[in-house]
Amino acid sequence: MIRLGVLASGRGSNLQAIIDAIEAETITANVAVVIGNKERAPALARAERHGVPSVFLDPKSVADAPDPREAYDRQLLEQLKRYEVEFVILAGYMKIVTPVLIRAYEWRMMNVHPSLLPSFPGLNAQRQALDHGVKVAGCTVHFVTETVDEGPIILQRAVPVHEDDTVDALSDRILKEEHRLLPEAIQLFAEGRIRVKGQRVHIRHESLDCRPETLLIE
Ligand code: GRF
Repeated sequence: MIRLGVLASGRGSNLQAIIDAIEAETITANVAVVIGNKERAPALARAERHGVPSVFLDPKSVADAPDPREAYDRQLLEQLKRYEVEFVILAGYMKIVTPVLIRAYEWRMMNVHPSLLPSFPGLNAQRQALDHGVKVAGCTVHFVTETVDEGPIILQRAVPVHEDDTVDALSDRILKEEHRLLPEAIQLFAEGRIRVKGQRVHIRHESLDCRPETLLIE
């Protein structure tokens, strides 16, 4: 079973969706560790409630390093290695990850984002969608590459935008889909069904090898 490392900063409802899917045996993976950058993040408490190891890494501890972001990611990497993490999930992780981490987990790191990328990357995606007046919004699970919110898209799901929507109402509607989409994407990886060609992710019908070096195809 694939050992997941989940990085989370806040509420942790996506982490909960992963844990629930594991407990319901709809995904064949384990959460080896949850790591957060906010001390009292509910995500860390959720992990503890389910007997999953949780680690708080304080960004302040590396504030004086020449490159604090990279120094932080080196610490993260140490923890991920310590818990023998094979695949990393960014589940509401509100910190930019640096190449230190991305290169170590190339094609082995996914992120969930509350918009239909490439529309509305970055913060406040649901607010951006409403302000733009789109009629359809949604969520995306994608591989993490060195450009924020731009890696190859694994799965997407759309939701309607209603006439009288508020940011909260739209966010809730999108979040429900995130909770389905992220476990699905993890399971596709666990079953070795993902192949990447350029910017496109192909989902195979049959299960194959899921070693990262077999993901890329010509
Ligand atoms: C989700 O909407 C996710 O797409 C975004 O941050 C939010 C995190 O929610 N990156 P939660 O912490 O998983 O509840």
